[in-house]
Order: sequence, then C-alpha cells, then structure tokens
Amino acid sequence: MMTNPVLVKKLFKPLPVTYKPHNQPTEKQMKTIISVIALTISGFASSAIAANAELGKDIFFSNCTACHAGGKNIMAPGKSLSKEDLETNKVNSAAAIIELITNGKGPMPAFGKLGVISAPDIENVAAYILKKSGEGW
Ligand code: HEC
Repeated sequence: MMTNPVLVKKLFKPLPVTYKPHNQPTEKQMKTIISVIALTISGFASSAIAANAELGKDIFFSNCTACHAGGKNIMAPGKSLSKEDLETNKVNSAAAIIELITNGKGPMPAFGKLGVISAPDIENVAAYILKKSGEGW
C-alpha cells in the first residue's frame, strides 16, 4: 500500500505552538476549586434534606385529609392532630410523627412501608403537621 505524504501530514498535524502541557491549576487554585464544588454540593444537599412544611401541605391534602381534614380524626376523635392530642398521645415530635406515618397504626395506613410516600415527603408532611398544630389548624 502506498502512503500518501499529504494525507499523513493532514492526519498528524503538529500540536499548535500555543499548547502548554503544564498549563494546570496550581495546588492552591485546585484547593479553591474543590472547596467551591464541595460547598455547592453541600448547599444543595442541605436544602433538599431540610423538611419543608410547604411541600408537606400538598402531601397532606392528597393522602391524609380523608381521615384528618382540618387536623381532626374522623376514625379516632381523641387522636386528632391538635397540639393537645399530639401531646397527650406523645406524637408531638417530628420523629414520632415520622415513625407513625412510616409504619402506620391500627386503621392508619403505613404510608412509608407501603412505598406510598417517600421518606423526604414524610418529613415534609410531619413538618406541616407540627406547624399547623402549633397554629391551632
Ligand atoms: C384511613 C384513615 C387515615 C388516614 C388516611 C390517615 N390517618 Fe393518621 N390516623 C388515623 C387513625 C385511626 C389514627 C389513630 C391511630 C392510633 O393511635 O390508634 C391516626 C393517627 C394519626 C396521628 C397521631 C394523632 C394523635 O393525636 O395520636 C398522626 C400525626 C397522623 N395520624 C398523621 C397522618 C398523616 C400525616 C396522614 C397522611 C400521610 C394520615 N395520618 C393518614 C387514620 C388515618
């Protein structure tokens, strides 16, 4: 096979003179870049993790109002979502409410275990309940 010198030249162009193989960020610059990336990621993560009562409101209306409209409890009146009932029944913390929504109790469905509501949304709806019970619904 004949080699065409023009084609060879085209295929193997010399690197442009502006190419600087050692044009890399210094260690100090690299540290700055890494910390900016880390801060950005952790900023996103914490805003995603923080329970959001506003988002919880939608979850509440689509999953809970059948039994808990207005913070009441049509099935077990002494187990409403009022501040007083939550205190009496020791369901007045985010952790206790999250546990209840995750695992259910009696006629209340286990929304978390059944995969109906995601873990972050359970936190959001718990935040919504605590906010509303504090405001007296
Ligand atoms: C089918 C009816 C029903 C639905 C739907 C329902 N619950 Fe309940 N819920 C109950 C019953 C019944 C209880 C009382 C359970 C017990 O302690 O025996 C209860 C109890 C609670 C309590 C504790 C109240 C207290 O004073 O002890 C909270 C908080 C709660 N539910 C939140 C929710 C949330 C949030 C949703 C939606 C994701 C929801 N529930 C959906 C029936 C329901």
